[in-house]
Amino acid sequence: MFGSQADPAMSAAKRKTACVTGGSGYIGSALIKLLLEDGYAVKTTVRNPDDTAKNSHLKELQAIGPLQVLRANLDEEGSFDEAVAGCDYAFLVAAPMNIRSKDPEKELVEAAVKGTLNVMRSCVRAGTVKRVVLTSSAAAVATRPLEGDGHVLDEDSWSDVDYLKATRPPFWGYPVSKVLLEKEASRFAQEHGLSLVTLCPVAVVGEAPAGKADSSVPAILSFLSGDQAAFAVLKTIEMGTGCVALVHIDDLCRAEIFLAEEAAAAGRYNCASLNTTIVEIARFLAHKYPQYNVNTDNLPGDVLKKPRVCLSSAKLVREGFEFEYKTLDEIYDNVIEYGKALGILPN
Ligand SMILES: NC(=O)c1ccc[n+]([C@@H]2O[C@H](COP(=O)([O-])OP(=O)(O)OC[C@H]3O[C@@H](n4cnc5c(N)ncnc54)[C@H](OP(=O)(O)O)[C@@H]3O)[C@@H](O)[C@H]2O)c1
Repeated sequence: MFGSQADPAMSAAKRKTACVTGGSGYIGSALIKLLLEDGYAVKTTVRNPDDTAKNSHLKELQAIGPLQVLRANLDEEGSFDEAVAGCDYAFLVAAPMNIRSKDPEKELVEAAVKGTLNVMRSCVRAGTVKRVVLTSSAAAVATRPLEGDGHVLDEDSWSDVDYLKATRPPFWGYPVSKVLLEKEASRFAQEHGLSLVTLCPVAVVGEAPAGKADSSVPAILSFLSGDQAAFAVLKTIEMGTGCVALVHIDDLCRAEIFLAEEAAAAGRYNCASLNTTIVEIARFLAHKYPQYNVNTDNLPGDVLKKPRVCLSSAKLVREGFEFEYKTLDEIYDNVIEYGKALGILPN
């Protein structure tokens, strides 16, 4: 466990405190940075605080504001009690991400549902948490068989668990885990009077403080890196959902905080700023970064020419949120340099 002293410029009494689970991760690290910049005191959890290589960015973030790092594991009941104690908001970002697990039912689905409820029980025990913001995924919204095109999916849309379990497409455990954890979280929140808001982000793009990013970043850079396993993730998204939808990490983190602070926010929120396709991304990258020799003629034959499905963030926008990064150019702005720093792309 390590921590920093409060910034003397802001008295402790004025600060709100937020817990972010999964501070070692890509999104968690970016959310912590934004919360600290916004004047929050932050408590975050990592599985292994002694792993200095993995957590060095958290030491650096302590220069921005008061950040406490605590050990917690989703698999251990009560593990998050200390992390959420005294917090105004709890951002549930940590989740099992081993999408290639040989036992997805146990390691992804069961672990995600149990882990989410575990943190929520800690929130109830804390008695101070005014809002829980759960990071789910568009994988819980759009992974369902839809014929034809022109579909617009809002928050009423749920991925089809029966279809996924019966057909077992690649990485099927991930969307199933997100649907089931959302439903259990919602049931638990109602039962215990917790104010819960759920965010369903699409593939996240952009630079974060974390020195390792194994989720969306290798996939959205796979056109440039040539990493076929990472490209397969993008291909699965397009085939399974009918589009590749993107959001910049800064917009996502601003949406997380917006939904924590907006008293009237309720239910699920899609978070997508652009609905596109593999072909459109490949063409954009080939044009903007000719040095990577992206071969747009060599894409698999079954990629989409245009999105069949649009993930709508109209609810988020209607309630006052504005996306800052809307075009491929804006969304991809700093992720190339980040990819180089992570060793995903050559320098
Ligand atoms: N990246 C995206 O495009 C995207 C899109 C939609 C939704 N999301 C969701 O956003 C959240 C964060 O994703 P990410 O992209 O930031 O992934 P990430 O970099 O892999 O971060 C996942 C975090 O969860 C933690 N974690 C995993 N298993 C845990 C356990 N048993 N106990 C405690 N902590 C555990 C990890 O800790 P360790 O470092 O110890 O492994 C890590 O901090 C996830 O819920 C993900 O489903 C991501």
